Amino acid sequence: MKFTYYGHSCFVVETAGKKLLFDPFITGNELAKDVDVNSIEADYILISHGHGDHVADLVSIAKRTGATVIAAFEVVNWAQQQGVEKVHPMNFGSYKFDFGMLKFLPAWHSSAMPDGSYGGNPGGFLIMNNEGNFYYTGDTCLMMDMQLVPRYAKLDFVIMPVGGNFTMDAGDAVIAAEFLQCKKIVGVHFDTFGYIKIDHEATKAQFKAAGNELILPKIKETINL
Ligand code: NI
Ligand code: MN
Repeated sequence: MKFTYYGHSCFVVETAGKKLLFDPFITGNELAKDVDVNSIEADYILISHGHGDHVADLVSIAKRTGATVIAAFEVVNWAQQQGVEKVHPMNFGSYKFDFGMLKFLPAWHSSAMPDGSYGGNPGGFLIMNNEGNFYYTGDTCLMMDMQLVPRYAKLDFVIMPVGGNFTMDAGDAVIAAEFLQCKKIVGVHFDTFGYIKIDHEATKAQFKAAGNELILPKIKETINL
């Protein structure tokens, strides 16, 4: 699977011939100012929750690409009110898409739309197909529910926040990796704001000490996972 990073928690995973775009936030992210929003392609846009740092470019990219938006029912309602037409509302549960089986799983966080309307419950996405399995936790603290994931799938990689303050920090993310039984971690939700600036080398060392590999992708970087 091909992973391309666009800053904060925004990335594309290419799998099963489809481009899955997660949590588009480029406009307003000073670190992603070299990313051309209009060059990003997507077949699906998956939204973990309604906060501005996860939905900033959702409407414009959905309208331009015609991608289908997959998110909590309430997030989808909001997107439809902004004129997005192709949507797939979910709540915690699973559905078989043409790119594989998707499970929308809970996250411990909050969710409101940029206009203040209710964003439903925040979540994360587990995706399983014959190329492999991966899990994006969304914004969350460490939670015992993560221990359920290995019952569903053996993960090839996990994408999770490591910036702290609003989400897990590196210490909790190391425990999360243990819960998830996955040794390859892509860190997201770091450096964007003052509260979540991290020391890259120290953070990687923390994961290495636990026998894990932490990848802190560079913006616009593509990695084969
Ligand atoms: Ni959030
Ligand atoms: Mn966030």
